[in-house]
Amino acid sequence: MAKHGLPLGIDVGGSGIKGAPVDLAKGAFAAKRQRIDTPVPSTPEAVADVIDQIVDYFDDVRGDSPIGVTIPGVVTHGVVRSAANIDKSWLDFDAEPMLEKKLGHDIVLVNDADAAGVAELHYGAAKGQKGLVIMTTLGTGIGTALIYDGELVPNSELGHLELDGYDAETRAASSVKDKEGLSYPEWATRLQRYYSHLEALLWPDLFVVGGGVSKDSEKFLPLLTLRTPIVPATLQNKAGIIGAAHLAAHHH
Ligand code: BGC
Repeated sequence: MAKHGLPLGIDVGGSGIKGAPVDLAKGAFAAKRQRIDTPVPSTPEAVADVIDQIVDYFDDVRGDSPIGVTIPGVVTHGVVRSAANIDKSWLDFDAEPMLEKKLGHDIVLVNDADAAGVAELHYGAAKGQKGLVIMTTLGTGIGTALIYDGELVPNSELGHLELDGYDAETRAASSVKDKEGLSYPEWATRLQRYYSHLEALLWPDLFVVGGGVSKDSEKFLPLLTLRTPIVPATLQNKAGIIGAAHLAAHHH
């Protein structure tokens, strides 16, 4: 049966759960995004309730089109395998079937940074880029997506590289900049260390920098000296939703 309506993308983050129907021809939201605070604690059941509300809200636009959901953790075969910045009860939780039951519809569950990378690949800063692109999302944590010649290599967790004895995201995420009150130049010193290490290990052709802070990229990207070109994400924090919808639509 032909699909009617527009696919939905839902982005589960540390502070908000956001969703919108996506126009895949344009790579843009087709209606105003809905946002609900992430419940505390962010257990699978509580998060599923919020996702359900957002899906219900867009029922008419969505019709019977697919739903993509992002999660800030590793996802293999629908099971969440890591939970650095969400409730630990997600660990090893078989989330995809639970969400499908709750929503009464097939979904695709994907890591948040991977979804953002896919969106940048199809509609944004990584479009047409050959070789290796490393998308990094700077937010509560650091998410990464590896894209090689247009193909996503899922579940890279390069935000957790050990650097100078620290988990890198606990030094260089944008939440750390806020928490420690770092100036842009102070924070850029940490980003410099992080991105130089990444490029020494993987020799990418392009870095794309996403997350909310990417809208202020001119305050920190010019301070970095790298051999790899580094550019802000074009879709900024819309990328997770757009990428999730794209992946869901191409999966079914
Ligand atoms: C998680 C990743 C996630 C990133 C951004 C990290 O702490 O391990 O899976 O992509 O945060 O949310």
